[in-house]
Amino acid sequence: MKGPSKGLLIVFEGIDGTGKSTQLALLAEELSKRGYPVVTTREPTSGRYGQEIRKLYLDRTSCSPAEELRLFIEDRRQHVREVLAPALANGKIVLCDRYFLSTVAYQGANGFAVEEILAQNSFAPEPDLALLFQAPLAVGISRITGERGDILNDFEKAETLARVAEIFNSLTHPSIRKIDAAGPMAVVQENVLSVVLPLLTTCGGQCLPEPV
Ligand code: TYD
Repeated sequence: MKGPSKGLLIVFEGIDGTGKSTQLALLAEELSKRGYPVVTTREPTSGRYGQEIRKLYLDRTSCSPAEELRLFIEDRRQHVREVLAPALANGKIVLCDRYFLSTVAYQGANGFAVEEILAQNSFAPEPDLALLFQAPLAVGISRITGERGDILNDFEKAETLARVAEIFNSLTHPSIRKIDAAGPMAVVQENVLSVVLPLLTTCGGQCLPEPV
């Protein structure tokens, strides 16, 4: 769905541990500094379906793949209705940590066809830009277990992530821009800005929220 939105939807996608959440926070800070009205948000949300999803981190097998897919779709439906659509209608630049391409890649790796997942997401506004963070799997996994000191949740096992990365790689949506996320944080941030800033200036009056 592409509505007559006034704002701009920028989504951050990629396998776990690519640093996308850190880059989202850095971009939000930079755009706010420049006077743009920014809203940051993420999926899974902290809403009722998002909470159900988080319970699965410990044991993904406690739910069928179809039920898992349903939870992500319902979480997004609520997110679009309550957060994304109102913010876009208000002319905000919305930075969203994960969106429907994550469903395509993760639930795709769990057995569903890409087309089927996209069809189930037809209610969700198309992002203006999907930043796809790419780093070797080993880098992602060591960032999760090393720097973050976390254990891998049930969505982050190496075999699964390899398949997820493969699907992310194969996607050809026009909104996708690949970001090399293997390097130092400051370099990755430069890459992100080099993609985002031209979008703000070329968007003209149509969808560019005016700096305040
Ligand atoms: P993550 O970005 O790690 O969220 P948080 O840091 O808030 O816990 O996302 C959690 C996991 O959910 C991640 O491993 C990817 C998975 N996921 C899907 O499988 N499908 C989806 O549609 C989304 C949005 C996330």
